[in-house]
Amino acid sequence: QEAHAAEMERTFIAIKPDGVQRGLISEIISRFERKGFKLVAIKIMTPSKEFAQKHYDDLKERPFFNGLCEFLSSGPVIAMVWEGEGVIKYGRKLIGATDPQKSEPGTIRGDLAVVVGRNIIHGSDGPETAKNEINLWFKPQELMAAKPLTTEAIA
Ligand code: TYD
Repeated sequence: QEAHAAEMERTFIAIKPDGVQRGLISEIISRFERKGFKLVAIKIMTPSKEFAQKHYDDLKERPFFNGLCEFLSSGPVIAMVWEGEGVIKYGRKLIGATDPQKSEPGTIRGDLAVVVGRNIIHGSDGPETAKNEINLWFKPQELMAAKPLTTEAIA
């Protein structure tokens, strides 16, 4: 019997330098864990400004782009990959709206942040960006392998 690699949905989540500096790592991780999502990769790193520019490439025409990249590269970031059914969309729901003034209470940004330039966390906004961001931040061998499906799970 052949084992098939399960194509479980994955998203890229990062705790930005302000979240790390403020001591919010465990608070943020625990919200994803308690929801039932599974951590499949994690590391701490300070991205270079060039790396930050790659990460935010789709925003390069925006006026805040330079400040945003300066900020992302200003200190340690917790880079993670989380897995689970609906994790891309629901991860964004846990995070809350981009501007913490508009994020609902109960969301990470709603509960823990005040201004858009210091909104403590990043989450991929769709399947395509999730794939690109995971590939940018992680080597394949840094990710937990996809769980092989048993024949019962397939049937
Ligand atoms: P964006 O991708 O629009 O939001 P999100 O992080 O929710 O996916 O923007 C990326 C980051 O850029 C955002 O988290 C904070 C920063 N930003 C500003 O500083 N000013 C702004 O007006 C916007 C829209 C974003």
